[in-house]
Amino acid sequence: MTTRRTFLNQSALAACALALPVTAEPTITGSQSLKAQAHKRGLLAGCAVGAANLREPDFTQVLIDQYSLVVPENALKFGPLRPSPTEYNFADADALVNFAHDHKMKVRGHNFVWHEQLPAWFAATVTKENAKQILTTHIQTVASRYKGKIQSWDVVNEAINPSDGLPDSLRHSPWLQLIGPEYLELAYRTARQADPHAKLTYNEYGIENENEADRTKRAATLDLLKRLKAANVPIDALGIQSHISAGSGQTWGNGLRDLIAGAQSLGLEVYLTELDVNDDAVLGDDTAARDQQVAAVYRDYLAVALENRAVKSVLTWGITDRHSWLNEVKSHREKMPNRPQRPLPFDPDYKPAPAFFALRDALAHAPHR
Ligand code: G3I
Repeated sequence: MTTRRTFLNQSALAACALALPVTAEPTITGSQSLKAQAHKRGLLAGCAVGAANLREPDFTQVLIDQYSLVVPENALKFGPLRPSPTEYNFADADALVNFAHDHKMKVRGHNFVWHEQLPAWFAATVTKENAKQILTTHIQTVASRYKGKIQSWDVVNEAINPSDGLPDSLRHSPWLQLIGPEYLELAYRTARQADPHAKLTYNEYGIENENEADRTKRAATLDLLKRLKAANVPIDALGIQSHISAGSGQTWGNGLRDLIAGAQSLGLEVYLTELDVNDDAVLGDDTAARDQQVAAVYRDYLAVALENRAVKSVLTWGITDRHSWLNEVKSHREKMPNRPQRPLPFDPDYKPAPAFFALRDALAHAPHR
């Protein structure tokens, strides 16, 4: 029962609440979130998640509010999974896959085969004689564990490197040296058999910009995809990592359009898998000006990349500048140790940056899939 005193107290509180100025904070959740705006256009909005991030309440709140697709930044890579030739450490990957499941998010797997983040025991243990067995056993073990829970797997990551001067511009990776070019087909066929539900993706960087190096790498990447499809290798999607820069004169146009159209003509979906905008080349220390230049790159890049309906998802490589891998890059640490990068949709204090609004606007205005 409400006493007279309680009633007066509640009325006074209500009056105060009405008198308080409404904060000017723009609405960014619910129907105004990245995932809601993406969903309206038949797209998925996602991000990479570091293992430690799930222990940060601020991080998980933004993750739940804004994203419907997650990818472990490191937890599903060969090295982090394999502390020894006979052990698997699934703890961090399980935590993220379970978190995603509990919050109805899809999960990307990244990655089975890469030349980086191989475990310390790899070089001394893997030989031409056992490499195929080690590769297939790894994929079978990991893909089977998450069977039916992975929307798409980056089966092979960054296999093209024209500057290595090898046939078909293949990268001089340990897997190529140990198995030969057939390591690619072996990886995709093994992954398909282990998890028929997942979309099998080839993931690459340095194929986005209108410059000579990216043009060369784009052509080699499309040629690789054509060869794999011609050999009936089970591959479903191209991942365009989208690690791009502000202030460095990069532009995006017909080269990117032709890459996406080329993948589409092979029956592939396209995912923008690791979007972030390096701002080291943006001159001056005016943070607001830097943020505006980064937002302009999100706007300009996505205006081209999202034109084609073959592009189904946009993931940023992280959520907040606070955790960006770009701050660990050697060149950044040497040249600008005291100027942390601002490459992502949320600033170090989890405030939406201009890049957030540019990303959301691009999603909201993309052609409906
Ligand atoms: O986990 C260990 C920790 O135990 C140790 O104390 C610490 C000391 O160095 O290292 C930690 O591992 C680090 C790992 O990230 C987890 O934080 C590695 O040193 C570090 O090299 C590793 O960096 C990752 C990088 O890939 C490896 O090349 C970045 O977080 C990750 O964002 C980055 O992601 C790649 C994609 O997978 C592929 N596309 C490019 C992208 C950026 O390089």
